[in-house]
Amino acid sequence: MEETKRTRPVQSAGFPFQRIIVTGAAGFIGANFTSLMLSWHPDLHIAGFDSLTYAGSLENLDGCLKNSRFTFIKGDIREKEAVEETFCREKPDAVVNFAAESHVDNSISNPSLFLETNVLGTGVLLDAAVRHGVRFHQVSTDEVYGDLLLECSERFTENSPLRPSSPYSASKAAADLLVLSYCRTYGIKATITRCTNNFGAYQHREKLIPKVIWNALHGLPIPVYGNGLNVREWISAEDHCRAVESVLAHGESGRIYNVGSGVEISNISLIKQLLSILGKDESLIEYVPDRPGHDLRYALDSSRIREELGFSVPEDSFHRRLEEAAAFYRRAFSHPS
Ligand SMILES: NC(=O)c1ccc[n+]([C@@H]2O[C@H](COP(=O)([O-])OP(=O)(O)OC[C@H]3O[C@@H](n4cnc5c(N)ncnc54)[C@H](O)[C@@H]3O)[C@@H](O)[C@H]2O)c1
Repeated sequence: MEETKRTRPVQSAGFPFQRIIVTGAAGFIGANFTSLMLSWHPDLHIAGFDSLTYAGSLENLDGCLKNSRFTFIKGDIREKEAVEETFCREKPDAVVNFAAESHVDNSISNPSLFLETNVLGTGVLLDAAVRHGVRFHQVSTDEVYGDLLLECSERFTENSPLRPSSPYSASKAAADLLVLSYCRTYGIKATITRCTNNFGAYQHREKLIPKVIWNALHGLPIPVYGNGLNVREWISAEDHCRAVESVLAHGESGRIYNVGSGVEISNISLIKQLLSILGKDESLIEYVPDRPGHDLRYALDSSRIREELGFSVPEDSFHRRLEEAAAFYRRAFSHPS
């Protein structure tokens, strides 16, 4: 995380919260968010709440665990008592919900777990937010909009219809609707960000970029679904975390904000870029049968967050960030814990 800390000076003024709960703090983006927020806001206290599923690891929070402004709580967002106890003890001003089952392939083999965690778990957190009068932020995904045709130039806006393709994206869409209904019915202050594909340090090895790097470094075949032409918009986890911070601090309650970078790349082109960064041969690429319901193209219109909150992703930063991520995994995979 050293590189990321240097990219932005410490900020203390203008952030309205002193104590926040971050659920899913031991996962990929939650760990990046926790670490960055502690470094950006020197007076902020964070309680990380995570049940440590296969996707979460305390190693992702290595730097935070030594920080006196950070507390880790092992707990499950589906369990009302554990959530209530944490709200009573931590007395948060805000909760940011990253906790989720997040892997599309797993949602195809075990959809009910996704409904329990992503929908019912979000409901338990919302109930606690109502009881304690706490600001709520839901971290959602562009996958709730479904996909676009490869050859079109359309981008999803926040008003595009919800057309999720997988049980994962359907569960995220359902959670978003629940959040909006709690704003309307119970008057809680809540916002939603819908972000494109993230990359960066601490991502689980099941996901595309770490998997490609692992296989490339071990000389293993690199499986590519279908023809590899599916297009995704990629954003670094740090840029996503900046967007969440900005919406949490300045977003309008009841509002959804798309978060994208404008960088659209086909899976096969991304894999070839990674192989080139790693100095590995493209002969490792192996095409495998497509995932059922595999979305073709995701692309967001992020003008709302840009125009209303001044958020932007530095142009030309993508390749540098990809090199930083590759360097992180090269180090992590050569010293497996
Ligand atoms: N990774 C992406 O590209 C991406 C893009 C857009 C949005 N998102 C959203 O961001 C959030 C975080 O994604 P990620 O990639 O870091 O996921 P991840 O799978 O790496 O981390 C999820 C974390 O949630 C925890 N968790 C799971 N079930 C829990 C439960 N019942 N109670 C408490 N903790 C639980 C896990 O232990 C893990 O630490 C998710 O809500 C996801 O939908 C991710």
